[in-house]
Amino acid sequence: MLSGDPAARLDLLTDLATPLAVRTAVTLRVPEKVAGGTTKLDDLATACAADRDALGRLLRYLAHRGVFVEVSPDVFGLTEVGELLCDRSAGGYGTRLDLDGLAARLDLAVLGLPHAVRSGGPGYAAVHGRELWADLDATPEFRAHFDELMESLQRTTAPEVAARYPWPEIGTVADVGGGSGALLAELLTAHPHLRGILVDRAEPVATAARRFADRGLADRVELVAGDFFQPLPPGADVYLISRALTDWNDGDATAILRRCAEAAGPDGRILIVEVLPTEPHVPHLSSYDLRMLVEVGGRERGLDDYVVLAAAAGLAPRRNFRGAAGLTLMEFG
Ligand SMILES: C[S@@+](CC[C@H](N)C(=O)[O-])C[C@H]1O[C@@H](n2cnc3c(N)ncnc32)[C@H](O)[C@@H]1O
Repeated sequence: MLSGDPAARLDLLTDLATPLAVRTAVTLRVPEKVAGGTTKLDDLATACAADRDALGRLLRYLAHRGVFVEVSPDVFGLTEVGELLCDRSAGGYGTRLDLDGLAARLDLAVLGLPHAVRSGGPGYAAVHGRELWADLDATPEFRAHFDELMESLQRTTAPEVAARYPWPEIGTVADVGGGSGALLAELLTAHPHLRGILVDRAEPVATAARRFADRGLADRVELVAGDFFQPLPPGADVYLISRALTDWNDGDATAILRRCAEAAGPDGRILIVEVLPTEPHVPHLSSYDLRMLVEVGGRERGLDDYVVLAAAAGLAPRRNFRGAAGLTLMEFG
């Protein structure tokens, strides 16, 4: 909770100029230029294709906020904070804050929050003209960026998912909404006798096909470019649904689980993987729940909420496996 003068606190809560000033510097790639030795305003304006006067005003504003430092008149350096902006890896600040990229497009969906709160549904289309999934389908570079972002998260969670669950020695796991297949590839590598089915939209499934081929796993995987609201391939031993139910409201999440339950039959298992909101990451302390609402109409849920959702899909809880930082594997059957 912020303390101090109420007006100053409110200003801090409501300022939009600073977040967009930082993003503008990133979008123009000023931090990289400065890090690369272009430090004079004249040279930066040329290198970043910017108006010299306007760029100077932006950089002085951000120097005042501790992102850049004006080492001598019209010569700029980076602070430790500014250095973070040079990171263009999938989850890096440079990638996340570039206004031309998908991550900032997701950030800007927050302009649709009034629509989301009035309607209870997502606000992304109110800002960007179509829902997120359709936007990704229509824009391959956004889809590629989204998949890279998911893969960067899976790099930490996939080894845990592979290690914490008692995967059958021999059997089939269907990864429902498995994206571009990084998690399934990890599972098949860690458990050489497992076979896999990947279900997702066409573009990530095509990316996954290349990944499985590169890793010599192609003959152990069935790829399904489809829709998890439609019947799923039957007969897998485990239907894994990782970090996908948070994207959906209760009705839709139940419908997806019902499809998994139908395909699994009486002996199959459903394994929900989510990062549960554990302290201090509970909904009202993090913006993640609101982001899920506005971006896709989804929500954060706790363990009990998943039990209720699964019950509505005819599934009973069996076992839970806890990983690091809230990662939880919930088995139903
Ligand atoms: C948040 S991502 C999670 C990806 C992956 N399971 C992971 O753990 O990183 C949700 C996935 O659901 C997929 N998805 C969205 N709508 C879908 C649909 N109707 N049918 C199948 N997959 C869908 C998206 O393409 C995306 O890959």
